[in-house]
Amino acid sequence: MTDARLIDGKTFAEKLREKIKRRTADLKATDGLVPGLAAVLVGEDPASQIYVRNKEIQCVEAGMSSVGRRLPANISESELLATIMEFNAEPAVNGILVQLPLPDHIIAKNVIEAIDVTKDVDGFNHLNVGALSSGEEGLIPCTPRGCMLLLEDTLGDLTGMNAVVVGRSNIVGKPIAQLLLAANCTVTIAHSQTQNLPDVCRKADIIIAAVGRPRMIRGNWIKPGATIIDVGINRITDEKGKTRLVGDIHFDEAIKVAGAITPVPGGVGPMTIACLLENTLIACCRQNDVEEE
Ligand code: GUN
Repeated sequence: MTDARLIDGKTFAEKLREKIKRRTADLKATDGLVPGLAAVLVGEDPASQIYVRNKEIQCVEAGMSSVGRRLPANISESELLATIMEFNAEPAVNGILVQLPLPDHIIAKNVIEAIDVTKDVDGFNHLNVGALSSGEEGLIPCTPRGCMLLLEDTLGDLTGMNAVVVGRSNIVGKPIAQLLLAANCTVTIAHSQTQNLPDVCRKADIIIAAVGRPRMIRGNWIKPGATIIDVGINRITDEKGKTRLVGDIHFDEAIKVAGAITPVPGGVGPMTIACLLENTLIACCRQNDVEEE
């Protein structure tokens, strides 16, 4: 059997960002609008600093405006909520993103729910969660949306396919299950308590791996020809003592069995920010009653 086709999220995301950049330029020319994203970072977690910085850079590269707000780790919840209120009231800010995780003394749910639902470009607010599960218009979480774009580009119509989502987080597992259901898949959500996970995975035409456990899903759990989307990003020290990033899929085994697979890095990762920019553009259009393409 030949090796699986690699799903190139990096190139797909670059093309999507180009498209968003053109649409942003049109919006400025025809309606005088510049989509704006406010990114809030609390504390100094190194990974979060990198994520937020990349979001800001790509926002500006797409022709959007970016407002960064760095807040100290010991800020009170009410001070953080006051920052959110300020951005909610600012018409030039169309999207608000609060990087997670937040320090332990802040209840993330209170912060997420304080974001104006029309500016919730992460799609985490319960109104956007509800909109997604009931098929109403809302803002779709970025990583799940990125996975769906890659899947539909690889497979076309997903109707009738068996999709197994491994992981049930609010950020990835649950929303992607809703998107797969909306695309007419038969969806199984598996998790740490699932019995006989290898057998559950073996029935899948599509596996979405989002458990956060390095190389947990082995090659012999995969149905020959299945499409594999690996959302995991885990830093490991390998057999040779080198540090590197791996996904939740055992890639070297899976590539021998699967039909198509996303690499880590370069698969799902780059799609998340591209979809964040797309949501910011959509939010700007909706807030200003301008047609979204
Ligand atoms: N932390 C890890 N992933 C995300 C994400 O998609 N959005 C936000 N705001 N924080 C995160």
